[in-house]
Amino acid sequence: MTVQAGTSARLGEDDIVPSIAAVMEGEGDPIANAANIAAILFEGLADINWAGFYFLRGGQLVLGPFQGRVACTRIDMGKGVCGTAARQCATIVVPDVHQFEGHIACDAASRSEIVVPIMRAGQVLGVIDIDSPHVARFTPAHAKLIEQVASLYVRACGDATP
Ligand code: SME
Repeated sequence: MTVQAGTSARLGEDDIVPSIAAVMEGEGDPIANAANIAAILFEGLADINWAGFYFLRGGQLVLGPFQGRVACTRIDMGKGVCGTAARQCATIVVPDVHQFEGHIACDAASRSEIVVPIMRAGQVLGVIDIDSPHVARFTPAHAKLIEQVASLYVRACGDATP
């Protein structure tokens, strides 16, 4: 099943990649695409409380389109789960955020988290961040899924900078 503006069917996890591919078809705007990806992830993943983007601007990660509660606007490279994933250019799955030193708590309800870097030509453009109120919500399969989403996003946006 794919997604179109105005449809009412709820998405499931298996719908995420086809829906994102469909909604970005012929669309290269980085903000529009990020906004729809955040909406699709938030709807398609059960038991999450935040899904969205941070973009690297001037050496800091700056909040982009998201779904969920109000979040911190800026994260320094190397700080928190987001800044660590961005600096390492590597996906980080945190089963229990209370055990991650330096975790930045935007929503006190969050208990586990996954952060995937958005990479283009070896450079990090930002991250996709997803939080859950459940411990150990995210599996290695989720890491692969969100990495696929990040690469679809980069391909759709071409040379445009978010
Ligand atoms: N927990 C993140 C901060 C962003 S919020 O979860 C939306 C971190 O430690 O980087």
